[in-house]
Amino acid sequence: MSLSDPRALRDAFGRFMTGVTVVTARDRSGNLVGFTANSFTSVSLDPPLILVCPGKFLSSYAAFEGCSHFAVNILAEGQEDISNTFAGFKGDRFTCTPHHIDANGCALIDGAVATFSCKRHDWINAGDHGLLIGQVTAFTTNDKRGLGYAGGQYFSLGLERGARDPEAKINVAGAIITAGDQLWLTQTPRGLAPLQCTLPDRRALRGSLRDHLATLGITAQLGPVFSVFDDPKTDTHYAYLLAEAPAGTAPDGITALPICALDDAVFDGTATTRMMARFAHEAQTRNFTLYLGDAEDGEFHAFTSN
Ligand SMILES: Cc1cc2nc3c(=O)[nH]c(=O)nc-3n(C[C@H](O)[C@H](O)[C@H](O)COP(=O)(O)O)c2cc1C
Repeated sequence: MSLSDPRALRDAFGRFMTGVTVVTARDRSGNLVGFTANSFTSVSLDPPLILVCPGKFLSSYAAFEGCSHFAVNILAEGQEDISNTFAGFKGDRFTCTPHHIDANGCALIDGAVATFSCKRHDWINAGDHGLLIGQVTAFTTNDKRGLGYAGGQYFSLGLERGARDPEAKINVAGAIITAGDQLWLTQTPRGLAPLQCTLPDRRALRGSLRDHLATLGITAQLGPVFSVFDDPKTDTHYAYLLAEAPAGTAPDGITALPICALDDAVFDGTATTRMMARFAHEAQTRNFTLYLGDAEDGEFHAFTSN
């Protein structure tokens, strides 16, 4: 490959699988600034040091080059929208992103897998980027799964691990949607089922599912993956995500079922019945697990949803 082809080099760099972070600071006027970065690396335990590489093309480059403090937020599965906001949105990125302020005055993103509040330790110029090294002054972490990024696309450990049969002919993505104390479902001839669609491309799962829900009049926040399984009999791969819609009246054609009535509901098949029984049980504690396997049996993995 030729080094004179920057696109090829960028693609080669992009083959390295990373997580996704949002790095925040304040500019000279005290305004919050932030950008999406996958150049985050932990550097040292003693002292606790991390680094991230702001590009010179960033509108906030001067703010990061001159900052005394900054924060790094490792995004969770389901926070792709936040990553996209901090990678491209030109308006106020913070008004549309739930966050709070740390002791250093920097923004910590609500729902992140881990946050690191830092004071500046060093700054090194390196070509078209800078290396911003920070000493961690405080950090938080939880059991959520982190959002992945490789080859210019987001990935989710839940979905990738569950993809036992990457060649499945039919791929179905569904959403288990809570709206206040209700579940929004669809009525099929065999019983109730989560809202779902057949995917043209499994890699575009979240986008396709979001588009499908929008055509039904539902704006839902897609969250972590709840269940991934194959049905070898029909050569179908299923992936169900947890989702939240604002409480209110369900759109036409959607069945709103009170969560407390889940136990008595009739679902459209054995796999759905089992999955919804687990949802009913886990919704009581909000300690959701991830199911990976096939329609008959599989494994459960613990994760905490909030
Ligand atoms: C997944 C992902 C990782 C990124 N990593 C970096 C990075 O490490 N450093 C960087 O300068 N820009 C990175 N970017 C690009 C910036 O996020 C993007 O150019 C920036 O947010 C634009 O902000 P601005 O409009 O304020 O200039 C990344 C973008 C994405 C989507």
